[in-house]
Formats: sequence, C-alpha cells, structure tokens
Amino acid sequence: MAFPVTRLRRLRQNETLRSMVRETRLTPESLVYPLFVCPGEAVRKVIRSMPGVFNLSIDQAVQEAQETHALGIPAIILFGLPETKDDRASGAWADDGIVQRATRAIKRAVPELVVLGDVCLCEYMSHGHCGIARKSTASGAARADHGSAASAAAAPSPEFEIENDATLEILARTAVSLARAGVDIVAPSDMMDGRVAAIRTALDGAGLQNMPILSYAAKFASGFYGPFREAADSAPQFGDRRSYQMDGGNLREAMREIQTDLEEGADMVMVKPAMPYLDVIAQARERFDVPICAYQVSGEYAMIQAAAQNGWLDRDRVVMESLLSIRRAGAGTILTYFAKEAAKLMS
Ligand code: PBG
Repeated sequence: MAFPVTRLRRLRQNETLRSMVRETRLTPESLVYPLFVCPGEAVRKVIRSMPGVFNLSIDQAVQEAQETHALGIPAIILFGLPETKDDRASGAWADDGIVQRATRAIKRAVPELVVLGDVCLCEYMSHGHCGIARKSTASGAARADHGSAASAAAAPSPEFEIENDATLEILARTAVSLARAGVDIVAPSDMMDGRVAAIRTALDGAGLQNMPILSYAAKFASGFYGPFREAADSAPQFGDRRSYQMDGGNLREAMREIQTDLEEGADMVMVKPAMPYLDVIAQARERFDVPICAYQVSGEYAMIQAAAQNGWLDRDRVVMESLLSIRRAGAGTILTYFAKEAAKLMS
C-alpha cells in the first residue's frame, strides 16, 4: 500500500507520537564511565586532547564515582597511571597498585557502583606495549614494528616481538590481583591469544569462580586511540600494536575473536572502537546471545568535542545521536567519556 495511503510522516507529527514509536532508547543503565587514576592528592590533571577528562588522584576519583552513581550510571572502568613502569608491568599486579588502591577506596565509598578493572599491561610497561617484549631473533611476521607506514615515524629500534604465552601469566596475575582488590568485573583489553582461558583458570584457582570476564574481544588497531595514549601515558615506544590488535578490514575475523573468547569463558564481549565499527557490533548482536558492549573511544570523544568547541556541531545533539547509533547497532552497554553528560541529558 503505497502513497497516498501510506504516509510515514503521520507518526512524526509531534514529540509524543515520535516517542511512542521510537524503537531504540538510551538510558543511563546502559553506560559505563571510564576514569584515569593517578598518584597524588587533589590532582585533576587536564588531558589536552580530551577536554573534560582528567587524570584523577584517588580522592578525586572517589568523588567522580559518587557523582556517576548519583546520575544512575551503574558502572565505571578504571585505568591506572603507575608511579613507575618496568618491563614486567609490576604496577599492574601489585597489591598496592594504583588501580587496586583506587578500587578499594571507591568500593568503600560507593559499594553499589560496579567497578570494572581493565586488564592490560601497556600503562605499566616501560615500552608501552600490551605484552612482554623480546628482541626478535627470527624475522617473523609477529614483529611489533612490522613495517607499517605509521611506525616509520617511531624511533628506529631493533626488531621486537610481543610474546604471547609469556604475557598470559602476568595478565592472569593482574586479573586475580584486581579481583582481590574488589573489582566486580575484569576486562582484558590486551588482545593476546588465550588470555580469557588463562584468566578464567587463574580466577577459579584463586576461589574467584563468580568473577565475570568482559573481554575486549574485537579490538581493532585504531588511530582513534590516540588521545587515550596521552591520558594513560601508554603510547608504544617503538613499533605499533598491529601484531596483536585486529586489522580494520576484518569482519569475519572479528566474529572468530568473539567466538574463541566465549569458548574460553568470557561472560560478555566488547567491540572497540564503536562508531567506525557499527557493522561489527550489529553482526555480533545477530550471531551471539551474550551481552555485547561497545567502547566509544577517546578519538571518537575528541572529534565531537573539537567540532563542538569550534561551533561546528551541536554537541548535545551529536553526543546523543552517536550513542543512539551504537545502541541501535546492538550494543547493550556503552563505555563512553560522555557518560555523565549523556545521563544528565537523558533525565
Ligand atoms: C589498553 C587500552 C586502550 C584503550 C583501552 N584499553 C588503548 C590502546 O590499545 O592503545 C583505548 C581506549 C580509548 O581510546 O578510549 N590496551
């Protein structure tokens, strides 16, 4: 029955009608707010490429956690800037590590707020990679600095390999340490093969059978992580992350990453970044009956902030539209630096 019988504009005549037939809605319960925790007291250090986001000392992070909870947002995810870095990432799994201490303080102040612990090593490694780096003997394809155009600008370095299996043990130790500190979910973001199984085994061995794992399953090697690396001081000192993060062209491989992580015991999975990979979110939603999360990453945030600061975009509108698109694609949960603002706009 075509025009003139069918007139789709009939249901768009006013906001009440539009709202009645709206298929996708945003609520604060679907958001997770990321925080960057640093040493010190009363620190709120500006991150130049992420206006409105700060490096926070633990006391400040506790305040943010309280505000986040008051806005109806159920969860935060913590990233840490350790006092010192080394080539074993000891700051990631130390009992008194920065995220471990922040977790204890936040859970004491706001016990109902869900705290996710990001399990990765790049913030704690002196070289900034997500795994153990070893000077490469072979000229294998797994080299961290595998001749990409982007890495040409980095300092010339011997060829390095990011060692998969040796890294698993430290990742597992980090997950157990974060769980003991009180996080509610561990979220590995390193992209080593087998990390979910290694973490599950270690958690179970430590009597932590009920600790959920949210795996960053389909994490693409992305230019959109640029501002995060300023925020977390985690830029790789040589090469890039293309030997472990996914190639941007690969949708089928993303489904395999998700499948293997689920087989290894992941309880929830993530696609990251979000807006440039909405098709990956949509297909993951179709294929897998598990909670799907998406991370609207630092570069997605910075783009909107920059355009809005120039008066080129209506910020509130595009913030909500970007989140709605991620939700419509199929993500049940969205990690976003806009979480607090968006929750205010929703109320
Ligand atoms: C750690 C990690 C990264 C992000 C989250 N966890 C960055 C990276 O791989 O360099 C990016 C988040 C963002 O850009 O907002 N591996």
